[in-house]
Amino acid sequence: MKKSTIALAVATTLVLGTGIAYAANDEPISPIKPPANINLGAVELGKKLYFDPRLSKSGFISCNSCHNLSMGGTDNIPTSIGDKWQQGPINAPTVLNSSLNLAQFWDGRAADLKAQAGGPIANPGEMGFSHTLAVNVLQSIPGYVREFKQVFGKDKIEIGDVTAAIAEFEKTLVTPNARFDQWLLGKADALSADELEGYNLFKNAGCVACHNGEAVGGNSFQKMGLVEPYKATSDAEGRAAVTGQDADRFNFKVPTLRNVELTYPYFHDGAANTLTQAVDIMGRLQLGRRFSAKENARIVAFLKTLTGDQPSFQLPILPPSADATPRPTPFGK
Ligand code: HEC
Ligand code: HEC
Repeated sequence: MKKSTIALAVATTLVLGTGIAYAANDEPISPIKPPANINLGAVELGKKLYFDPRLSKSGFISCNSCHNLSMGGTDNIPTSIGDKWQQGPINAPTVLNSSLNLAQFWDGRAADLKAQAGGPIANPGEMGFSHTLAVNVLQSIPGYVREFKQVFGKDKIEIGDVTAAIAEFEKTLVTPNARFDQWLLGKADALSADELEGYNLFKNAGCVACHNGEAVGGNSFQKMGLVEPYKATSDAEGRAAVTGQDADRFNFKVPTLRNVELTYPYFHDGAANTLTQAVDIMGRLQLGRRFSAKENARIVAFLKTLTGDQPSFQLPILPPSADATPRPTPFGK
């Protein structure tokens, strides 16, 4: 591939709806914008639901069990643990910045966050519940009935409102202000010389062909093992499971590299423990390129500048169950 010569960054200034000015230049990565048009009532309700293990059969597993917001929105294990300690089939991607994805899940089978949020509640290998049972539990809790009424204006809780509230909360889980974004916005000393060289390598080697945009990924499906095949420890077949097309076999949604320092282990099977390993594998399998230890370390240094401000809020206090609330069955059938 021919390397482009130094492109003159003509920094224009865009003024967005939020009133904050963003420098736009010709870099393939753009800064994360704070969330816009958020329904604050739905966010507060969705936050409670996100942390509420009563949406699971066991009464023990919440969204936060596998997408822990204290750990980059992931569980930091190769594949998740579901109902009755079942081993999950695939690595849990981060929920941070997931609103920026073109679709949800590794194979993109959910169009958006609202469509996604119903999945885990009823998935026997995850929260192991059903939508009807989850709604029955919520409907039996007076604090929730009140709050749903405030937000959605109805006495009867519906699963579509549950998923809408969770999705609204997830929209707030963006991570602006990474050092890399500060650099993009003109703070020249936000990156060290090594980090900047790492970024230039990341660009010039061709990583940006797939990892670009606001989320540094999340905006296309690409083959894992373009130049050299990848031997996965999971039997997920990727996008082909959705499209039925053979050509989509082993195509996965390109993961975001935002906060990637926090979201180990890596790849859909969680087989790479460190960024050093992941960068080495990406170089060889996607680009046919072997990085020296020094080059690899620089790319890793750059990747660590993509960690942004983590969501921060008061831990939600959940409304207590009532006498009539169906009780969890952590060990029962
Ligand atoms: C038992 C662990 C577990 C629980 C509980 C769980 N998830 Fe997930 N989540 C996963 C796994 C694993 C995937 C990836 C599945 C796939 O791609 O096939 C995933 C995918 C996602 C994605 C897609 C992210 C992306 O980049 O594609 C979002 C968003 C998400 N979960 C949100 C939630 C919400 C909201 C809840 C609670 C209602 C929840 N999850 C509960 C394990 C879990
Ligand atoms: C042809 C597209 C493509 C190119 C080029 C590419 N990647 Fe990737 N990258 C992917 C896909 C697809 C995945 C997910 C693969 C999987 O999980 O099976 C991925 C995953 C990753 C991950 C793991 C993220 C996670 O959360 O699991 C890292 C880190 C990464 N890439 C870095 C790089 C670097 C560094 C380069 C350049 C050396 C690069 N990528 C080049 C498509 C690409």
